[in-house]
Amino acid sequence: MNKDILCICYSRTGRTKRVMEEIAAALDCELAILTDRAKRDGAIGWLRCGLDAMRKKTRAIRQIHTQRPLSEYGLVILGTPVWAGRCASVMRAFLKRRGYELGSVAYVITHGSDEQYRAVFDQMDLYLLQPHVAEVSLRPGSTGYVFWRDQFLRTVADRTGAELRPLTEDGTAQSETER
Ligand SMILES: Cc1cc2nc3c(=O)[nH]c(=O)nc-3n(C[C@H](O)[C@H](O)[C@H](O)COP(=O)(O)O)c2cc1C
Repeated sequence: MNKDILCICYSRTGRTKRVMEEIAAALDCELAILTDRAKRDGAIGWLRCGLDAMRKKTRAIRQIHTQRPLSEYGLVILGTPVWAGRCASVMRAFLKRRGYELGSVAYVITHGSDEQYRAVFDQMDLYLLQPHVAEVSLRPGSTGYVFWRDQFLRTVADRTGAELRPLTEDGTAQSETER
């Protein structure tokens, strides 16, 4: 396992989690999931998410468990859905509280429309001590999805020296016999 890279994500309906599982599988690294205590499902939950994002409101998040202190990872990859043109407020809560602990950071954002939401990367950088080093904006299920995901993976591999594990069509790492 690659102990120098950590993936962290928030996902309300599982799309970002799925993307981050693929990325963590290709890099053979840990994946930690952010959660908070707010009720975010159903119509009321959706509205709460939108309002939290628009107002930049954050709530307490549950602690995440990682193998090493955050500051010791060579690269932390943060994954978040876009909410109302911003990062999800659960990711904002994490960045507010723990962003200063992170060294090199890369971003993965997912969204439902074809817009790229590049401004989200700059918004997230406000919580870091240094600007992010890599980024990708993905619409899961779109035609370019695999291309952009794999391009991001190659950028990360070039930066970190990580060896990439080939992914199957369903996004899991290929076994030795499949290669
Ligand atoms: C409250 C809310 C606001 C959203 N705002 C946007 C938006 O501004 N633009 C967009 O393309 N998608 C928007 N979406 C769609 C999500 O970004 C998209 O479905 C994402 O991939 C969901 O990821 P998840 O399953 O990990 O939660 C929004 C979703 C929610 C719940």
